Amino acid sequence: MRLATVVGTRPQFVKAALVSEALRSRPDVDETLIHTGQHYDDALAGIMFSDLELGAPDVELGIGSGPHGAQTGRMLEVVESALLRLQPHQVLVYGDTNSALAGALAAAKLALPVAHVEAGVRSGRRFQPEEINRIVVDHVAELLLAPSAAAAANLDREGRGGGVAVVGDVMLDAVRRFGPVSEARSTILTDLGLSAGGYVLATVHRAENTDDPQVLAGIVAGLQHVATEIGVVWPVHPRTTGLLAEEHPPGLLLVPAVGYLDMLALERGAAVVATDSGGVQREAFYQQVPSVTLRHETEWTEIVDLGWTVLVPPTGPSAVAAGILDALGRRPGAAGTPYGDGTAAREIVAHLTGSTA
Ligand code: UD1
Repeated sequence: MRLATVVGTRPQFVKAALVSEALRSRPDVDETLIHTGQHYDDALAGIMFSDLELGAPDVELGIGSGPHGAQTGRMLEVVESALLRLQPHQVLVYGDTNSALAGALAAAKLALPVAHVEAGVRSGRRFQPEEINRIVVDHVAELLLAPSAAAAANLDREGRGGGVAVVGDVMLDAVRRFGPVSEARSTILTDLGLSAGGYVLATVHRAENTDDPQVLAGIVAGLQHVATEIGVVWPVHPRTTGLLAEEHPPGLLLVPAVGYLDMLALERGAAVVATDSGGVQREAFYQQVPSVTLRHETEWTEIVDLGWTVLVPPTGPSAVAAGILDALGRRPGAAGTPYGDGTAAREIVAHLTGSTA
């Protein structure tokens, strides 16, 4: 079976690494990894490929950044050409990015079956680019690989009940697989002069938090307030770097985006993680570190229900600061296993190859 996988952004490299590894043990599957080039900086792409032991992509399309329509349109055209050349039997996409959208649409237009990992995840906010991408991808895909029962229920509600399998979250597989590698190799805490349990780790990259200067300024001021009590380290996504009013806001330790192994180490050592990323929120949970979700809602509601994250809408400096400082004293209960047991990659491969028991 010829399988084409379309990836393009940092979180997709993490997920694809685990599934590609599981696919390599299948002599009956020939996977071609297509990288759209949506992420191209070393910190977002190059380091990720080496940290994740993911071989170089077989096809690099080099699309780069741009407004959503232009970026997605350019991808659609070049992904279609690649698929025409490769003639795969199936196309695999991950998550909710423009690369996933373009991969799924290009395949669907060629009448190729699409498999979607992270199917059924919903925020309920249609204005978010990721939410539109998820809905469209789920409605053109044939094989819907959901991370949780709640995600499968969302698909059912949207009339997409057929072709759904609950496989768990492949990001959990990644934390299990690379957590020990990160422990052995990452020196980031020492490099940054941090001690385990002695800092808050912050990440902010979602358009709704970065593109409105008032919201971003509120987050920065809130973090500065937190930093009067406990150190705050913030690896800055390149998107956010260009939008900050000051390159180095006083009191905060801003560092360029870090690779996957260093990110796992920073999460593991944090007293609390404050983030607007669904991936970082889950990685903190999987490493048993409490988090604050700097959003009005989350797709990963089970983590809220279990008490491992608290929604703190970034409505201003005091809301952000109070939410994070409160979380410092929080002791969540048992972690629970709402997203499977770390064998999602194997299950995904079983469904892709039709070899489920
Ligand atoms: C994208 C995804 C988002 C995901 C995130 C993970 C969409 C709609 N959004 O957001 O869901 O959570 O990736 O990181 O697909 N840039 C660089 N170097 C790069 C890539 C981007 O400097 O290698 C800068 C550019 O200024 C670019 C901006 O970041 O315009 C935004 O990049 P883009 O790929 O459009 O979206 P992300 O914010 O990364």
